[in-house]
Parts: sequence; C-alpha cells; structure tokens
Amino acid sequence: MNNKFLIGCCYYPEHWDRSAMKSDLERIKGLGLNCVRMGEFAWSIFEKEEGKYDFSLLEEAVSYAEKLGIDVILGTPTAAPPKWLTDKYPEVLCTTKDGVVMSHGGRQHHNHTSEIYLKYCATITEAMVKQFSGCKNVIGWQIDNELNCHRYESYSKTDDAAFRVWLKKKYGTVEELNRCWGNTFWSLDFGDFSDVHCPRRIPTNENPSWMTDYYLFLSDTVTDYAAVQTRIIRRYMPDAFITHNGYFRNIDYKKLTRECLDFLSYDSYPAFRERNGRALGRNAAYKLALTRSCSEKYLILEQQSGPGGQTPYLLPTPIPGQIRLWTYQDLAHGAVGVLYFRYRTALYGTEQLWYGIYGHDGEENHRSREVREITKEMERVGDIFLKDRVKHPVAIYYDYHNVCADKAEPFAPSDAEFIFYALEKKNIHTDFVSKGDDLGKYKVVILPHITVADEELAKSLERFTAGGGIVIISARSGVKDENVHYRPCKEPGVFRELAGCSVDWFTSLFAHERQNVSFGGKTYPVSDYYEMLSPECGVAVGNYTEGFCKDGAAIVKNGNTYYLGFYSNTNADIYIDIIRSHVECREPIAEDLEEFDMDEYTLYLNHGYESVELKCHDVIKDENIESIPPFGVALVKKMRYAYQCQE
Ligand code: GAL
Repeated sequence: MNNKFLIGCCYYPEHWDRSAMKSDLERIKGLGLNCVRMGEFAWSIFEKEEGKYDFSLLEEAVSYAEKLGIDVILGTPTAAPPKWLTDKYPEVLCTTKDGVVMSHGGRQHHNHTSEIYLKYCATITEAMVKQFSGCKNVIGWQIDNELNCHRYESYSKTDDAAFRVWLKKKYGTVEELNRCWGNTFWSLDFGDFSDVHCPRRIPTNENPSWMTDYYLFLSDTVTDYAAVQTRIIRRYMPDAFITHNGYFRNIDYKKLTRECLDFLSYDSYPAFRERNGRALGRNAAYKLALTRSCSEKYLILEQQSGPGGQTPYLLPTPIPGQIRLWTYQDLAHGAVGVLYFRYRTALYGTEQLWYGIYGHDGEENHRSREVREITKEMERVGDIFLKDRVKHPVAIYYDYHNVCADKAEPFAPSDAEFIFYALEKKNIHTDFVSKGDDLGKYKVVILPHITVADEELAKSLERFTAGGGIVIISARSGVKDENVHYRPCKEPGVFRELAGCSVDWFTSLFAHERQNVSFGGKTYPVSDYYEMLSPECGVAVGNYTEGFCKDGAAIVKNGNTYYLGFYSNTNADIYIDIIRSHVECREPIAEDLEEFDMDEYTLYLNHGYESVELKCHDVIKDENIESIPPFGVALVKKMRYAYQCQE
C-alpha cells in the first residue's frame, strides 16, 4: 500500500469533451487532491471493436495527471461489457432465478462463470496493464467494480456447469454429495453430477445444504473471476497494489482479499444506510469494520460527496460539514486514504442524479469548498492516521460460512449488526474476527448465533478464556456441522462444555409476545427466540421473568464464558453491561458523539444536530474550542502527550 496519505476523487474523462480534460485535472489538483481513480467503465471506448484497442484518452489523462503530481488508480473495465461482446456471445449474460436473461443497457449484466467472458476480461486487462505498466504515477489497480453490487446471483447455463465442477471437486463422488446434502430427505438424490444444477424455483422451501453450497459457490466464482485479472496485473506491474471496492452480498471478502488482493477497499455511501436524518452517517461503521476485518489498513475508493440518486430515487444531500465528518470517520475506522465519488456530476446516463463534488454546472459550491478545507487539513493531520491507530477491545465473530447458513435457514434474524451498533453508540468499537484469527488482542469476543462451528473453534475459545479473555455466546450457537446438518446432541453443541450448560426447552417468540431477562438487578427484553437453560458446570446468573419459563435460567456463566440463551434484536444493553463489567469503557459525552481513543490522540465526531460542549485544543484547526458544532470534528492530543510536548 501507498505510504503517503491518499486523498482523491473518481474521475471519468470519457463523460466530458476531451478538450476539458486538462482543466478538469488542474481543478482536481486545485481542490488539493493527490489521486484519481479512472477507467472502470470505459471498455467500449478502449475496445470499440474487438481487438482494436485505443487507450489514448486514458493515456492522456494519466500522463497529464503525472505532470500535475497526481497519482492514479486504474479500474479494469469489466463491470460494463461492450455491446459487441454480449451480442456475439449471449452465453456471457447472467440469468435470473426465473430464467430471465439480462440484456445490454446497464452494467453487471454478465455472469462470472463464462469461460468466454473470462477470456475477454483477460485480454482487455492485459492490453490495459501493458499500456500503463510504464506509468510511474499508476500506483494501483482496482479489479472490476463493486462485484455483486447489482447482480449477486446467476443461474445461467455456464453457472450450472461451473457449479457441477465445483461440487465434484468438493465431494468427489455423487454419493458423498447426496450424503452431505441429506438428499434422502424428500427423494432429492442425484445419480450423477451432470444432474445437479443451481437451485431453481420449487414449490417448497429449499434444502439448506444445497443453498449453503450455492452461496459458497457464488463467492468462489467471484474469487476465480478476480484471480484472472490479478494474475495479469501482477505479471506486468508487480509493484502496483491491487484492490477492489466492496462490500456486497455473496462474497467471502476474507478469501477474496487473501487470494486476489493486496488489501480490500470500501465504497462508503452513508445516506443509503440511514435515510431518516438523525445521526446520519454513523451507520457506515458496520461495513467499515467488516472491511477492516479483511485489511487492517484500507482505502475508501468512493466516499459519498453529494446527494446520491439514480432515476427512481434521490438521497439527502450531505449537510455542510458532513463530507468532512465522514472523511474523519473513514480514517477513524481504519482507512488510510479517501477518494470522493465523483469529481463532477454527469449530464447524462443512469446516474445523472448522482452528484459529485461539482454539480452539473461544474461551478464552485459548498461541497467543493468543503473538500478544499479537508485537503488542507489532511496535509497537516492526514499522516497522524497512518500511524496512530484506534484499538478495538471487543470482537464479534463473523464468517462467511455462517452468513450462508443463516441465509439458507433464516428463521430468526441475526442480531449481530444490532449488537455492533448498540456497542458503537456507546463508543465501544468492535472488530470482526473469524476462525484462525489472533484473539489475543481482544478482551471480549462475542459469538452471535454462530450455528456452524467445530471443535477447533471451541478449543481456540477455551484457550482465549483460559488466558483471561471473556467470551459471550448466544442462542443456537454450535449446533451445526459444516454441511449445516444439526449435530445429534443438545444445544449448544460443540460449545456445551465451554458454555457449561445445555438447552432444555426453547421457543420462537412472536412479535406480540414478551419475554425479559433479569440480570444484575436490571431487566432486558429478548426478541425472536429464547432457550431455557440447564446449568451443567456453569452457574445461572440471569433468569426469565415471564410465562412458563419464569425464573428459568436465561444466562449461564462458566468461568469467563457467558451463554445468553436468546436473541437481542430490539435491545442489546445486556452486551454493553457485560462488557462494561470487564472492560473499562468511558461514558459517551453525548449520544451523537462518536469518540475514538488512539494512542496519542482522541478523535471526536459529532453526528448530531446539536453542539456538544467540550473544552479542548483541536489539533486540526490548532485552536482552543468550547464545543464541537453539529457535524463537527475535533482531534485532541491526550494529556500525557500534550504534557510531554510542553516539556
Ligand atoms: C457505486 C459505484 C459507482 C456509482 C456509485 C453511485 O456503487 O461503484 O460506479 O454507481 O455507486 O451510485
């Protein structure tokens, strides 16, 4: 990764008259930006006719950027195949579950499994990389664009064929496949791999093992697709970084990162995540943390910088100050560079309502003035975020296999995201971990309904608790094996010893029904589903308050492990209170103030409409302040460091 702080924008020279390119790049430079991302949708310009390449537009832009000292990240254009390609080879088009074949007219209408499409992706990537391999300011590559953003499933003939190959590799024999999918149930047995296909419309609900494998397969098709491009880029430009902009459905990003990328990046559009105006933007934290779980340091390749819209919708415009606030939020959550989407709003096309720094008019506005303010600040403080990193005392267990299994059997919604935000709002910043990650740096690890688990995971948690770590496991964890078959034992399956209890009775909870847990003198509501526990080597420390289960065990503590036999989709205070009883967490100063403790500095982000009183010296502006204004930011040197500096 680049060791200088990157601050830039996405730029589409192909949307504008060629004569405007130099002045556009000069204006980008004038905004104080030091990096642009280009090229990711321009295949029909680069290869107007098959095999006839013309990169002159991009070449001119790259070399003028170099003159201006602007670094370039190039995107491979494979998310938008040209018409000649899809006309010539309709097999590359993706197909919906209902058998509808997608057409030319938008983007991402291809599948990931057509050998023909992969071949064309390889040739355009190779032509492009060869063309730019000598350009010193091309520092990195983005593979494709937001894989699985619009189409995240495909049921084409090529997908069926690839699924069969994938299954054969995984199971070896069709008998083993039948066993692992439990195909004796409802006569689903296959006689040969050639009979198997991607799941289609059926009159009942689907077989969860089949569905889980389909989701795992979809992710692998993405990784294989990206790998074709990675290999080519590495061959010609071994020193350039390779990244990709997430975070979407049906992708195991940890695997994608491990196999194809130097680091994962993220596109942050906070307005999508919360449209009601209050604390707008704080909700970007979840995906930022997921991205950080793949790459500790990453880039924001697209940061919303304007009112976002496509033809059927228009999201709210960032409130003055909010682009700056989001930028610092990105950094606080692990980013080491931010590119704004986009330099200027296109006058035409599906995204003519998607505003960038400049609007259709291209004139100065409050957003361009704000970006200029940010870039000036970044010159002074940007590097601080490269070195001084936020520490996260808590981790939530998250793995793609469980995501797939949950999707295949979604009888109760996972509360993992709800818990994450409940903690986040108390400024308890959380990482995501999966099997094999080093747990040693955390004080608490939460396993929210991790159904698919094995002995190895249970053992690693045992070691963690033996070393003083706190584990919180919640209902239905540990009950399934890797084929998503239930284990023939009482819940919580592989975690029974660790949890020190088993489940004696459980029930789903309708929305109109109530159940609460009494713990430590407080009462907490539960949601969706709960279990009555039988303590074994653990001790009941929380009880239900209602109905048949009244006084029955709801929480069992066994040494450093808490087992919570319920879901918490409406209130996750129980997690906050358990964590606070083990980890020192300071009370938030105000509800909408996001606070980050780094080693030398504390960063405050005010996501609310009210000022927050805080007397401090703000390092960003180098001034003493009495309060942080709505949507304002303050960076404060910690006392011991401030003191050392004065000495
Ligand atoms: C991203 C995408 C961009 C643009 C932007 C605004 O999802 O990567 O190409 O579409 O959203 O919609």
